[in-house]
Amino acid sequence: MKETALRISDFKDSIFGVMSRLAREHNAINLSQGFPDFDGPEFVKEFAFKKIAEGHNQYAPFPGSMNLRNEVSSYYKRFYNLNYNPESEVTITVGATEAIFVVITALINPGDEVIVLEPFYDSYVASIKMCGGVAVPITMHAPNFTVDAEELQKAITPKTKLIILNNPHNPTGKMWEREELETVASLTIKNDLYLMSDEVYEFLTFDGHSHIPTATLNEMKERTITVSSAGKTFGLTGWKIGWICANEKLSNAFRLVHQYVTFSVSTPIQEAVAEGLKNLETYLPVFRKQYQDKRDYFYKELTSLGFKFDIPRGTYFMMVPISQKTEMKDVDYAMKLIKDYKVATVPPSAFYLKSAEGEKYLRFCFAKKDETLQAAVTNLKGL
Ligand SMILES: Cc1ncc(COP(=O)(O)O)c(C=O)c1O
Repeated sequence: MKETALRISDFKDSIFGVMSRLAREHNAINLSQGFPDFDGPEFVKEFAFKKIAEGHNQYAPFPGSMNLRNEVSSYYKRFYNLNYNPESEVTITVGATEAIFVVITALINPGDEVIVLEPFYDSYVASIKMCGGVAVPITMHAPNFTVDAEELQKAITPKTKLIILNNPHNPTGKMWEREELETVASLTIKNDLYLMSDEVYEFLTFDGHSHIPTATLNEMKERTITVSSAGKTFGLTGWKIGWICANEKLSNAFRLVHQYVTFSVSTPIQEAVAEGLKNLETYLPVFRKQYQDKRDYFYKELTSLGFKFDIPRGTYFMMVPISQKTEMKDVDYAMKLIKDYKVATVPPSAFYLKSAEGEKYLRFCFAKKDETLQAAVTNLKGL
C-alpha cells in the first residue's frame, strides 16, 4: 500500500490524547485536558432542546446562522466597541480549531513563515505544516512570559506573513498587558503582516481584569483576525461553535475555505449559542465566580504544597514551575504524578518548538468539580 501524505508524516497523537489515555490506564484524576468535568449552564442547554423541537435542523447558511452572526457582532460592539458587519465580517466555524485551520489555509502559501509565540496551542503549528508553511517560534520568556521586541523583529523576514497570538493565554493563564500587545502590534504594522488573535478565553478572566482584544489597538482592526469560541465561555466544549471576525476581504477568503472544509455548522446549536450570547451580561458574573473560586482553592493548595508561582489572571490553566520540587523534566515528572500520585497533568514542552523552558513546568487544568480538585489535592499531599 502507498504511504499517507508527507504533510502529516511527523504528526503524532496530541499530548492531550496521550495524557488522557495514560490517566485512564493508571486510574488517575485527569487535570490534563482543558475542559470542565461538569456541565454547562441549563439555560443554554434548554435553548438547544427548544431549537431542535422548533425545527432548526437543516443546513444553516454556510457563513453561519444569521442570528448567531448578529449576536457575535452585537457582543463585540457591547463589550469592546468593535464594529463587525454580521453579513460580511463574521464567519461561524466548527470551534476555534476549524477557524484556525481556515485562517491559515486561506493566508499561507508553501514556504510562507508564520510567527508562533511559544508556548502555543498545538493546532497552530499543525495547521501551518498542513499548508506547507514554516512555523517560526518566538519564546515568551518566564516568569511573566513576555516577548522581546528585538527578538521578534529579528525573526521577521520577507517571507513572514502572519503572527499568531493567544490572549488570555493557554497554558500560562497570562493576560497580556496593553504595552505588550502594542509591541507586537507595532511590529505587525511596521512589517505589513496579519495578526491572528486567538481569544477563546476572552471571558475567563479573574479579579476584575478585563480582556483587551487585539483588534481594539490603534490601526490594528484591519489586520487583526480574531478567533473565538463558545466552548470555553459556556463550558460546553463539545458544542464546537467558533467564529472568525475580520475585514470583508479576508472574511471572503476564509469563507471560501470554510465552505469546502465543513460547509456549515450545526444549526440548532448555533441558534442556542446565539441565545446564550444575548444573555452574557447576566451570565458572566456567575460564570467567572464559579471558576475564580476553583482557581483560588487550587492555587492555595498548590502553594501550600510548596509550588511557588503567580496566580493566573485568566483561562482555566496553571503553568506550575516544578524545579523547587524535582530535578526531573516535565515529561518524567508528569509520568511520576500519574503513576505514583494518580494525577494527570500536561508536560508543557509539547507547546514549544525552540526553547527547553517548558521542561521546567507542568500544566494543571482547574476546570473541574470541587470534589475532583479536592481528590487531586489529597493525592498530591505526599509530594
Ligand atoms: C488557545 C486555544 N485555542 C483554541 C482552542 C480550540 O477551541 P475549540 O474547542 O473551540 O475548537 C483551544 C482549546 O483548548 C485553546 O486552548
